[in-house]
Amino acid sequence: MTGDHALPVRVPTPRHYLMCPPRYFAVEYSINPWMDPDRPVDTELAMRQWTTLRDTYRELGHTVDEVPPQPGLPDMVFAANSGTVVDGRVLGSRFRAPERAAEAEHFRRWFVENGFRDVTMPRQINEAEGDFVWTGRVLLAGTGFRTDPGAHAEAQEALGVPVVSLHLIDERYYHLDTALFVLSGESDGATPAETPARVADPGARVADSGARVADPGARVAGSGDRVAGSGGDGGGAAGPARAQIAYYPEAFSEGSRRVLARLFPDAVQATAADAECFGLNGISDGRHVVLPVEATGLGDQLTERGYEVRFVDISELRKAGGGPKCCTLEIRK
Ligand code: ARG
Repeated sequence: MTGDHALPVRVPTPRHYLMCPPRYFAVEYSINPWMDPDRPVDTELAMRQWTTLRDTYRELGHTVDEVPPQPGLPDMVFAANSGTVVDGRVLGSRFRAPERAAEAEHFRRWFVENGFRDVTMPRQINEAEGDFVWTGRVLLAGTGFRTDPGAHAEAQEALGVPVVSLHLIDERYYHLDTALFVLSGESDGATPAETPARVADPGARVADSGARVADPGARVAGSGDRVAGSGGDGGGAAGPARAQIAYYPEAFSEGSRRVLARLFPDAVQATAADAECFGLNGISDGRHVVLPVEATGLGDQLTERGYEVRFVDISELRKAGGGPKCCTLEIRK
């Protein structure tokens, strides 16, 4: 698949994350197919794995704030489920499982105490960034297992962003962020350099090395798995380049797959093996992508596209059905 053609230049953007240490992490109940309360959990190991994840973000230049963990809330480490923040507006959460309900208020308080003035708490079941993924232009919104479809309209109203609903159909991928993540958002600076590096003739697969752009006017490479990032109906000729995502198609309904193919024709499609190890629960800053260590196939696909992959071990957290992204709530000011 790869030739010696130049890789796209991926530009990282510094991020601001909110996390919660797994001090009281345990699997005491089962609210997704990954959770088996009879299987022992090593809380200290979870703490070490989480600390490595947090420190990885800091080494990459990101800011990480922490919400104090609470006894009796063993899933509180999964901070992504407690807020969706776009342009400084915060939409909190309302959990489906009563066991997690109290987490929402701890995070709401953190936002209020940290100067966020526009904080809305949802009326519908809303598991926040577990089911809401911001691409820089639209908010992709999952439903099927946790977040109510009505929460999608509520999010659109509270955050003032267009929402695209997607239907999840595999109970192992019960949150949208277990099946899809953004590699480079529309506001990331990565994409302009991306187009010339793409394959110009899909039949040839590999562009002539040396010749960076076969026909710069053409922009779009054609169908197949290597379509260039801009142009087409999604990005709009004058608008910013469209986001690039990775996802596991089988986790989505037929109609939602078609929606994703239409919006993101150049998406990276992951295999079942990459999905099963929570490879789609990655975190990207536009250049560096943090993935579970087992997601090697996906890692290779991303390296081929010019991303720099950082592997982390999240084996303990996966026993609760979570990965790197689940532990990470992004604050977009
Ligand atoms: N045990 C948690 C639950 O089932 C895991 C949450 C994972 N979070 C996520 N963003 N996918 O709710």
